[in-house]
Amino acid sequence: GTAIAQTSPLIDFSIVPAAEGSGPVPNISSDYQFEVLIPWGTPLQPGGPEYNGDPNSRPTAEEQTRQIGIGHDGMWLFPIGSGNDHGVLAINHEFGGNDHILGKPAPESLEDVRLSQHAHGVSVVEIKKVSGNWQVVASNKSRRIHVNTPVTFSGPAANSALLQTPAGNTPLGTVNNCANGYTPWGTYLTCEENFNGYFGATGTWTPTEAQSRYGFSAGGFGYGWENFDPRFDLSNPDYRNEENRFGWVVEIDPMDASQTPVKRTALGRIKHENAELVIGRGGRAVVYMGDDERFDYIYKFVSQSNWRSMRARGISPLDSGKLYVAKFNDDGTGEWLELTINNPTLKAQFADQAEILTYTRMAADALGATRMDRPEWISTAPNGDVFCTLTNNSRRTVADAPNPLAPNPDGHIIKWRDSNQFTGLTFTWDIYILAQDTHGATDERTFSSPDGLWADPDGRLFIETDGGQQKGLNDQMLVADTTNPNEIRRLFTAVTSSEVTGITVTPDRKTMFINIQHPGDGDPSLTNFPAPTDGVTIPRDATIVITRKNGGIVGS
Ligand code: FEO
Ligand code: CA
Ligand code: CA
Ligand code: CA
Repeated sequence: GTAIAQTSPLIDFSIVPAAEGSGPVPNISSDYQFEVLIPWGTPLQPGGPEYNGDPNSRPTAEEQTRQIGIGHDGMWLFPIGSGNDHGVLAINHEFGGNDHILGKPAPESLEDVRLSQHAHGVSVVEIKKVSGNWQVVASNKSRRIHVNTPVTFSGPAANSALLQTPAGNTPLGTVNNCANGYTPWGTYLTCEENFNGYFGATGTWTPTEAQSRYGFSAGGFGYGWENFDPRFDLSNPDYRNEENRFGWVVEIDPMDASQTPVKRTALGRIKHENAELVIGRGGRAVVYMGDDERFDYIYKFVSQSNWRSMRARGISPLDSGKLYVAKFNDDGTGEWLELTINNPTLKAQFADQAEILTYTRMAADALGATRMDRPEWISTAPNGDVFCTLTNNSRRTVADAPNPLAPNPDGHIIKWRDSNQFTGLTFTWDIYILAQDTHGATDERTFSSPDGLWADPDGRLFIETDGGQQKGLNDQMLVADTTNPNEIRRLFTAVTSSEVTGITVTPDRKTMFINIQHPGDGDPSLTNFPAPTDGVTIPRDATIVITRKNGGIVGS
């Protein structure tokens, strides 16, 4: 890397120069080092079946239920002991195409569909630093949660007819698990994003208004599950409403492998990016959530009362509370609009609160929320600032103050400050940075399409990207000093045709975990990561473990 003058008390590392941030292997600041952990196919228990990227084979569907999945995305490390060298990692497996998972463009059997389904979902895996290296260890906590794992519903929509099917099949599974959250009571939150793409139609089917609003189509994203698994066939009347069972925030106990994951309906049904939980006034649990689609919205949930007292009464803080959607005014103020059946506008359109929560997007449409440039991750800083990445919006034709570029090919980061310690109904906001403002010819801060985001306790903001970068760069992770807005440094660059996403740290913050997702988009001619470059081995999603060579806090 290149040493640049120290201008920031928070950030003092050599950047990865743009000129060195491309190609088939990752690059990291010369002040840092990394190791690779849990690529797709890693056995969940030592000695279990392994898939190593052999282009002539794939796991069986059964083996995949005992292996790390594909599409590594949001994750969180739950400490064991100090947690600095031991913990349980809960990690999302967002997606992987048929060519990558199956080695063919479409499933030819139910076995193929099951392999694809089992590669999606969540892994809970116990990891430990042994002789200086992190590795998977034998554990009664480790488990796979996938599209066929039993789940339950909780909260106001749990017993709604909208979540029942004529077939009467019990609720199963989670899919397209994008980013995440975690709670102060020790659980993991996994967020279902582009669930619509896993459904298709084998027969005649006309979308309802709600199905259209959520993007369901006869072909879906081409997974073809509907051809062998009727749950995912929109034209099968026995499975009407099955699609309403996806699009939720799901709570997982990482320490109890027997726990049934719970879909928390009070948080609404959208294309959930992450669920940033912060404790607000009166000990209320406040959850910020983005709906990642062009022109969709930012939401906030506020629990009914103090989270500890709710739990003491046997009530989940995520089951009872108020759900709001954001309206950004052009003058730098904003309002949280409550999505409640007590609102006359919503009362006129929806039968009950359960319907509002199931078709949250349509309720937010009715209230005139602000249409944003693809809200991705939200992270709260210790000073009360809330940051949200707005990754890009190629289709915007009319700018407004919070989305000031039309079109917006490179995205921006917005920040706001809520009234009443996160719980209030008003806020003030500002643009933190426009990505295009880093695109000068000699500007080494260059980034586009911000996506993953984490504000650390000291005032650093970690920015991960997903989309075409300037200067030939691969997707990357940068560190910003929020106390010194011009200070942004590139810490890490990934491999060709991948994205960088997911972020968690040990309690001492001397070890950071991030993910390289869809390396080479599965194409072994672009990269063979994490295998040595050979042009043949199938590239695999993997976690990257980052430490500072001098043992300092990551980001410093
Ligand atoms: Fe799964 Fe919007 O990223
Ligand atoms: Ca992704
Ligand atoms: Ca994302
Ligand atoms: Ca993205």
